[in-house]
Amino acid sequence: MSEERSPGDLTKQQTADISEAQIAVHWPEEDYFSPPNAFIAQANLTDAAVFQRFSLDKFPECFKEFADLLDWYKYWETTLDTSNPPFWRWFVGGTINACYNCVDRHLARHRNKTAIHFVPEPENEAIQHLTYQELFVRVNEFAALLREACGLKTGDRVTLHMPMVAELPITMLACARLGVIHSQVFSGFSGKACADRVSDSESRVLITMDAYYRAGKLLDHKEKADTAVDEAAKDGHKVDKVLIWQRHPGRYSSAAKLVQGRDVIVNDLLRDFRGTRVDPVQMPAEAPLFLMYTSGTTGRPKGCQHSTGGYLAYVTWTSRNIQDIHPEDVYWCMADIGWITGHSYIVYGPLALAASSVVYEGVPTHPDAGRPWRIAEDLGVNIFHTSPTAIRALRREGPEEPAKYHHRFKHMTTVGEPIEPAVWKWYHSAVGKGEAVIVDTWWQTENGGFLCSTVPGLAKMKPGSAGPGIPGIHPVIYDDDGKELPAGSGRAGNICIRNPWPGSFQTIWKDPERYVRQYYARYCKNPKSKDWRDWPYMAGDGAVQAADGYYRILGRIDDVINVAGHRLGTKEIESAALVVAEVVEAAVVPVADEIKGKVPDLYVALKPGLAASAEIANRVSAAVVSGIGAIARPRRVIIVPDMPKTRSGKIMRRVLAAISNRQDPGDVSTLANPEVVDRIRELAK
Ligand code: WTA
Repeated sequence: MSEERSPGDLTKQQTADISEAQIAVHWPEEDYFSPPNAFIAQANLTDAAVFQRFSLDKFPECFKEFADLLDWYKYWETTLDTSNPPFWRWFVGGTINACYNCVDRHLARHRNKTAIHFVPEPENEAIQHLTYQELFVRVNEFAALLREACGLKTGDRVTLHMPMVAELPITMLACARLGVIHSQVFSGFSGKACADRVSDSESRVLITMDAYYRAGKLLDHKEKADTAVDEAAKDGHKVDKVLIWQRHPGRYSSAAKLVQGRDVIVNDLLRDFRGTRVDPVQMPAEAPLFLMYTSGTTGRPKGCQHSTGGYLAYVTWTSRNIQDIHPEDVYWCMADIGWITGHSYIVYGPLALAASSVVYEGVPTHPDAGRPWRIAEDLGVNIFHTSPTAIRALRREGPEEPAKYHHRFKHMTTVGEPIEPAVWKWYHSAVGKGEAVIVDTWWQTENGGFLCSTVPGLAKMKPGSAGPGIPGIHPVIYDDDGKELPAGSGRAGNICIRNPWPGSFQTIWKDPERYVRQYYARYCKNPKSKDWRDWPYMAGDGAVQAADGYYRILGRIDDVINVAGHRLGTKEIESAALVVAEVVEAAVVPVADEIKGKVPDLYVALKPGLAASAEIANRVSAAVVSGIGAIARPRRVIIVPDMPKTRSGKIMRRVLAAISNRQDPGDVSTLANPEVVDRIRELAK
């Protein structure tokens, strides 16, 4: 977190922000758990030779196996083009359509099978079961609307700010059908946060929904679209059309007025497109499928650009072999489609395999902590996928709940943050009833799909460890000097991937330099080289590798806080706080939290002469919520007389982090203002 060292300086860090590295060294190795025989007997991947097939000497041709899970219009000529590193191009020369692969190709055998189970949050509202045929019809009609009524065409960007409803995958797939690049923004983000993404992607069309249910309330969502359009306009970007789906078709559920000539109720307009069919557009494998904005080290979120062919091949293979999805499975990933996990493992991966995928609208603990297990029992869910934050919350609020239901999971996933072994064990015994295999999957928005995980039918599980690289992924841990840390060294370093892979993002939208700088520059062996071996990918996470080859991920090494599994940039939060006129300096630090893993504490200094007050603190907190969204709400806003600073004037965030985490800030005598530390400790009590 602190600026006075280079990123990833894990070995030299001494205090608060290295606690995770220290835990790594002192955290005892856990015992292994074996996958149940019943799981292995039905698993898609049980052939141990897979690791030979995907060894580095078979790279890159081994990835043909991934692409062969898809239907191509034209088969590719070049598996991997490395002529412009690190802008890797996969399956070059091939043409494909992602929507066709997720919908049309299943009609012959699975027309009447459920593609999407939409579970509304209100428990008395009926679950909707959309068959592949219905999905096909609705995607076609909406694609026709996008093309005819909005004039959208291949390569245009469209921002979606939609909640967890069936209309969200329908919208994404309709875009994919036309080769329109979708950029879905998490519905919990504020209108302002949405605006940043609208203008960065230059979307002329914003697609939203009037309202949705969350924690028992029907939230007005359309009002955020108005803010988004206004804020984007301040940025010099004009939105021509706002398309509004109705949460309750036929009824408008928002208090926000419709803007003449700009706002369109989708459910009304769709009547003009009943029965319309739109041919899928044959897209080059390398055409972008979507943008997914994520937090990085600088203020503005960056748009990770994902490809069509490589991405879809990657999520399909990993859904099949790591998630073990068969067409007859009912699969529920409880993530939000507004994050990469939902794109890859609610929509594209499962639907490419003709699975039934559950889309749940609300919070897992509504109206009580038994809700997920009731849904699982009702729908016959047998593969379940969620985050440590959700598992911790369900465990705290209803440790005995899972035992009351007759759900049976063959497979469960955890993703998004490190999971504590005790939480893992509850997941295994209580939720999985000891019958489910667990995969702890480590990856990032940038990666498209899983990087590290055990292959569930082949490897033992170890609580708290993600496992080795999946077949085709070859991780390595480097220390700060670029030396490889061998397995079992007990030392933490920067986890990197030696080789490119088809699911990786192609670039940062409109910022290719940052793409190179942030992910490839640090460990590049030779910037002139066209050999992929010289360009390891740096993930930005600290990790240790045990003697058995399993990786334990320790957390971010950059200015990113992982709150409840969601990435927030410290700079984003600080910029939002600085909007409050009284604030002159802001510094945010991560604090360990029992449920959410990490939460932000926000320290602010006021203009000279102003007195601290709860009123100002509340306004700062509100500014963060309106600038980013409720997930970024600081645990506390602490108004301090001055920030601890180095002699060169840099804020020492690690001192603040130590105070917030009740740890020793270490030697502060070299600070420009050491006396302020005790004062801050008092204020932060
Ligand atoms: C963290 C989410 C430990 C990590 C798919 C990474 C994890 C960031 C795990 C990416 C895991 C993700 N164990 N940490 N299994 N999975 N992370 O981009 O710090 O939202 O860099 O992608 O989450 O978050 P993102």
